[in-house]
Amino acid sequence: MLIQKASWITMDGAASAVVPVFRRTFLCPLPLRAARLEVTCDGVYDAYLNGCRVGSFILAPGWTEYRKRLQVQSYDVTSLIGENNTLDITVANGWYRRTNAPWTGTQNPDEFLPAMLIATLHLTYEDGREEVLLTDGNWQVSESQVTLSGIFIGEDADMTRSFSFEPARVCGFPKDCLIPQEGPEVREQETILPRSSFRTPRGEWIVDFGQNLTGYMVFDITAHAGEKLSLSTAEVLDRDGNFYTANYRSARSQLHYICKEGKQSYRPRFTFFGFRYLRIDEAPAGFRADQLRAVVLHSEMTRTGWLESSDPMLNQLFSNILWSQKGNYLDIPTDCPQRDERYGWTGDGQIFCRAATYQYDVRQFFRKWLADVRAAQHENGWVPEVVPSLTAYKPGGAAWSDAVCIIPWQLYETYGDLSFVSEMYEAMEKWIAYIPTVSTTPDLWTGCWTYGDWLALDAPEDYHPATIELSKRGYSNDDLVCSAFYANSVRIVIRAGTILGKDVSGYEALHQRISAAFKARFGEQLNTQTEKVLALHFDLADDPQAVADALAAQITACGTKLQTGLLGTPYLLHELCRYGYADVAWSLLLRKEYPGWLYSVSKGATTVWEHWDGIKPDGTFWDDDMNSYNHYAYGSVADWVFGVACGIKPAAPGFIRARIEPHPDPRLNSLSAVLDTVHGRIRSAWKYTGDGIRYEIDTPVPAEIVLGGTVTLVEKGRWIFGEQRPVSG
Ligand code: BGC
Repeated sequence: MLIQKASWITMDGAASAVVPVFRRTFLCPLPLRAARLEVTCDGVYDAYLNGCRVGSFILAPGWTEYRKRLQVQSYDVTSLIGENNTLDITVANGWYRRTNAPWTGTQNPDEFLPAMLIATLHLTYEDGREEVLLTDGNWQVSESQVTLSGIFIGEDADMTRSFSFEPARVCGFPKDCLIPQEGPEVREQETILPRSSFRTPRGEWIVDFGQNLTGYMVFDITAHAGEKLSLSTAEVLDRDGNFYTANYRSARSQLHYICKEGKQSYRPRFTFFGFRYLRIDEAPAGFRADQLRAVVLHSEMTRTGWLESSDPMLNQLFSNILWSQKGNYLDIPTDCPQRDERYGWTGDGQIFCRAATYQYDVRQFFRKWLADVRAAQHENGWVPEVVPSLTAYKPGGAAWSDAVCIIPWQLYETYGDLSFVSEMYEAMEKWIAYIPTVSTTPDLWTGCWTYGDWLALDAPEDYHPATIELSKRGYSNDDLVCSAFYANSVRIVIRAGTILGKDVSGYEALHQRISAAFKARFGEQLNTQTEKVLALHFDLADDPQAVADALAAQITACGTKLQTGLLGTPYLLHELCRYGYADVAWSLLLRKEYPGWLYSVSKGATTVWEHWDGIKPDGTFWDDDMNSYNHYAYGSVADWVFGVACGIKPAAPGFIRARIEPHPDPRLNSLSAVLDTVHGRIRSAWKYTGDGIRYEIDTPVPAEIVLGGTVTLVEKGRWIFGEQRPVSG
């Protein structure tokens, strides 16, 4: 890349929080054939050439394992160049230099770096002559009108400020980390108008967009210089209908805008927010709520999946899951988009991955993030709990670190692209080789710290864990959870190695030993719902039907309530159906009371909540501390709806062949799923009619259609079955 020839530049002695803008003016006297800008920075930037924004990538250069991989963007700017030119590139803190969340107890070593820019502008004239402008001492720099910026903070802008340019300083900073752009760009996706505006009992002026979302607010305004517009963000209102921000914790998440004279519009340039409501804290006289709009941001992805049922509440749940994917696939897969976190939690990433592949084409999104997982992996094999690992850098443990195996395997299954597996195989091997170095028992994974079945509901009332962290983890046995995930990761390595033509005999022997040790140690101790689910899902039970029977009985005995946390929930309905308890699975899905998927819908949720009872029946909150209303983990149930309720699964990797095995339930009149696979569109729909069930299946590939245990092999085409007998094809 040309950019290797450029120098990093910075602002001398920049001590204030004001965001700097770097400027290069230049003449372009001859007819131009092409102009290309390559650029990146240690933060997030936007570039304007002659007043026009370059490209539509928001929050470029995105978030990667920066010290090893910093993406460089390359823009065709031919149409923006004139004779006299001004190129302005503003560089804010972004993720690179953000202040760490206080709860991590760690300091980001890069927090005190100055804003730095590196760029090249490559001009090719019609006569073939070429010219390259590099970042160097010929650039100028000034404080910009963005006076404060941060991912958690939000943004302050003062449009009355004037610029004062001085020479930029060339500085030494590594260039070996520079790589071409890999991920899909984050872009503005849609605009949402306010649904209503009102005063709260406390007198606050609120604008409701009717949808919890990730993005920012934009506005048009006519004002006098110095007048101020201040906006706060919130996901929910409290029991009394007042604006509620405590769940953002230390994230300020506000916009403060000082107007210039006259007509103007603004959108935050270097941050994003998770919100449904805005509170207008201060506004110029005459400002109206309908001058505000919300803009949704997420990584560019093509939608591939659609669900629709006869139940409006279920449809709202499907919508909530989709919105939680949109809101948390902003350059990296995050846990949540609003509080002082927004990290690439590896566990959440793997939990939702399968559902994600049904809803969107996530190949490019994950290819880039998995490269960061590889880059973040410690040399002795452990995988951090968050990737990029800039902060909170410690092993993720069971189910979190196992993302290194689970995600690439899922991508291979959905898309049939072997490169996901070949690129990750070494990292997978390193991960499973690490586990025995820390485990206290051969062939099991014991004695190690884990987040366990995070947020499970099954701890007995007299359970008094030693730390707050432990109190959020339910009652499943840590050693059992770890060992189950160890077995699963080894099994994935065997499958991956086999298709890559590797000798996996050692891993096969290891898996047999783990499986035997697991059954011997835990076989009689599958107590919690999650313990049973994991033993079933990872095929670690001696008598799986008996375990499933016990699981169904346990769920029924406690009032048909799930007690599972982040680890058990994604597999729970799958395992119930697999062993003949589809009715119990449906009861859990359709449950409208806490804990259940439709409970949050009944409380007006428009995204998936972190806690089943994020808002309790009496309107109070689960807690202020860790209470996100946009957390997709439990939205993983979408993969059950697509894959089991509608029954669309790959029969061979990448859907070269499909297996369609719907599981209807009479409590729902109809359900349909559409999935755009890499081999075309599959549709599976069922509907209760007066005299039975009608199934409609469209498949672009040969398929095994399984109805009531009967397998019918069909060619591509439309297939309609009634009463479980084909009536036409
Ligand atoms: C996140 C989770 C994450 C967890 C680790 C939380 O704060 O939001 O979703 O996986 O920490 O247990």
